[in-house]
Amino acid sequence: MTGKKMPPPWRIKMVEMIKMNTREERELLLEQAGYNLFNLPSKEVYIDLLTDSGTAAMSDLQWAGLMRGDEAYAGSRSYFHLQSTVEELMGFKYVVPTHQGRGAENILFHHLIKPGQYVLGNMHFDTTKAHIEFNKGRAVNLAAEIANDTQAYHPFKGNFDLQALEQFIEEKGPGNIAFILVTITCNSAGGQPVSMANMRGVREIARRHGLQVFYDAARFAENAWFIKQREKEYASAPITEIVREMFSYADGCTMSAKKDAIVNIGGFVGLRDEAQYKAVSRLGVIFEGFPTYGGLAGRDMEAIALGLKEAVQEDYLAYRVGQVEYLGSLLRDAGIPIVEPVGGHAVFVDARKFLPHIPKEQFPAQALCINSIGKAASGPLKLEECWREEIRKPARISSRNWTSCA
Ligand SMILES: Cc1ncc(COP(=O)(O)O)c(C=O)c1O
Repeated sequence: MTGKKMPPPWRIKMVEMIKMNTREERELLLEQAGYNLFNLPSKEVYIDLLTDSGTAAMSDLQWAGLMRGDEAYAGSRSYFHLQSTVEELMGFKYVVPTHQGRGAENILFHHLIKPGQYVLGNMHFDTTKAHIEFNKGRAVNLAAEIANDTQAYHPFKGNFDLQALEQFIEEKGPGNIAFILVTITCNSAGGQPVSMANMRGVREIARRHGLQVFYDAARFAENAWFIKQREKEYASAPITEIVREMFSYADGCTMSAKKDAIVNIGGFVGLRDEAQYKAVSRLGVIFEGFPTYGGLAGRDMEAIALGLKEAVQEDYLAYRVGQVEYLGSLLRDAGIPIVEPVGGHAVFVDARKFLPHIPKEQFPAQALCINSIGKAASGPLKLEECWREEIRKPARISSRNWTSCA
């Protein structure tokens, strides 16, 4: 895909006014923020591409769903709407709502990990790794080697190295492994997808060794879109069928609904096994809330259920992924080194390649951000080093014109 032009599959019904600062104002704001972008008040930011997490625009149906949310403490109608949607889409009968993705990681991992056990992932997201370690587990990344080469093209750069996975299990012994976690799409590798063949391969290895497989499903719909585009035998399969098959290779999932459920807050754990559900929902009572609301209001569950259905619509996905690809093509054409191929939710700029004269200790990615907003960083910044600058695209909040301004 090359970011071809296509009209958005929605109509704009409401607008939010945003402020346009002059260059001098931006420079002052950056200075006041200590050159730390996280300190900038959002009212001063015209184009905010910090993240796609919780920043999407909800649809008219989702907003209407907020009014229909059932706020009952127990047995909320909105919970059952969420549960039946997850079951229909992903095949998981049991659902524990959580306040966001990391809430789901907390309760599931607490249940699954015994101290010292390994959790094998393609590339764990940072909150995922933190929750594994917080529960005394050991996070191991086993993505295929090509994921580390920012310029190499591979249609499924989020894939597991299946040989390395099998070898690791044989070396350490299945008893020392808590579970396998497949992150779809693989955020830490640049929003790169995992192929269906690879998911099937992971499942087969897990089956041989008696291990369970879970998905970090934050961007499952984008992953399904890439499968449809890049894995020949799925070219004419409906997205919902692809999604269903993807999840058929998993025992459960954690979900940050702030991504592919197109809502501003929320998450859940999805499970197949009743006993496992009972154990995880008991932990949910301690950390989140009663099992039929978890960490959420009834209206949030309603919006998630509706958002999940919208996220698998093909026009939406074509436009969403196409817009990110378009942003990538603008940067590529301008000679800026980006992670190839462009991911589903973000364009990752290789700041070390872009600014080779700025040493790692002086945070080239932050310097790049600051510079692109208004002023080059003149000294060390407060944030931890990040070699890549992620330009993450919130869903449905902007048009193509706006993307080209970014
Ligand atoms: C792949 C992945 N997993 C988990 C999370 C954590 O989700 P949340 O921010 O909803 O806690 C994120 C958030 O960005 C993510 O990208």
